[in-house]
Amino acid sequence: MKSKYIIIALLALSSLAFGYSDSVVWSDNLVDNILGYDKEGSLHLGQYFTILQSTYFKPLFFGVLFGVPAIFLIHYLIIGPMIFSHDRKKIYVFTLFNRIVHAIAGIAFILIIPTGLIMMFATTFGGGEFVRICKDIHAISTLLFIVSIVPMFLMWLRPMLPSSDDIKWMMILGGYLNKRKDPVPAGRFNAGQKMWFWLATLGGFLMIGTGVAMYFQDFRLDILVSNSISQIDFLRASAIIHNVLGLAVLALFLTHIYMSVFAIKGAIHSMINGYKEEEEVEILHSSYYKELKEKGEA
Ligand code: HEM
Repeated sequence: MKSKYIIIALLALSSLAFGYSDSVVWSDNLVDNILGYDKEGSLHLGQYFTILQSTYFKPLFFGVLFGVPAIFLIHYLIIGPMIFSHDRKKIYVFTLFNRIVHAIAGIAFILIIPTGLIMMFATTFGGGEFVRICKDIHAISTLLFIVSIVPMFLMWLRPMLPSSDDIKWMMILGGYLNKRKDPVPAGRFNAGQKMWFWLATLGGFLMIGTGVAMYFQDFRLDILVSNSISQIDFLRASAIIHNVLGLAVLALFLTHIYMSVFAIKGAIHSMINGYKEEEEVEILHSSYYKELKEKGEA
């Protein structure tokens, strides 16, 4: 964007010097053509890319990073956490394999998210070596994410498929707006957990693909796609998709942490030892609890 203004300033100076003031000289199209935004590439993404990168993404990331926790802080102060009895039976819900895969994804994200944000706000952090190291950590921890995301997708694919409970769950926002212990319509996973799963896995695959494209900028595009898109537009599209999905992933990751660490007291233990409190399953996953009862497992 800065370069655009430099070109406009140069055009203004030249029009003063050479005495012409035709409005065509000032048109955005001319400036864009000089910058080459619209010359190559079939998608003409140049202008969208520039405006999104220079004006919108940073404030949006800032808004999500501080806005989402602020909403949860208000929720915590007004409604507070759900607390379930620890005196009843415990139900084994996550196998050791589930927990190891999840732990790898967790470690990957703890590295990927802060380093991604540092790259987004690189100028605030002074750029240079520090941001370059973060870029490398971001790329290396993606390898950890790749290792976890394939088994996570396969191990939870079936219980994450949509069910009629999901609409009912969304209508009452999962019962999180009050502290009553009314049974919430949900199977092994509720609609909120399913959204997170699909975003983290399918969205995760897209994040990986677009991230790899940006990391290796100089690859042979024709191996991947036909010549219908130029290399520069492919990279612009990758950056836009990566950032839009990144916003959603950041928002749901913060939600996931709030739900598992703060909103449901003790929920984090289920991902450590595999067991959930029976009352928690009975209330928050009432359809699953019914199934377990029918099978005599609860
Ligand atoms: C690093 C911090 C993380 C913590 C503390 C955490 C915690 C938890 C906990 C406690 C559960 C069980 C929730 C329940 O059923 O009551 C869970 C489930 C799950 N986690 Fe995480 N998690 C983290 C990172 C991640 C990451 C990075 C991913 C995906 C890439 C992920 C994906 C899932 C999924 C799909 C489930 C099952 C559905 C759900 O409960 O949302 N988690 N996590």
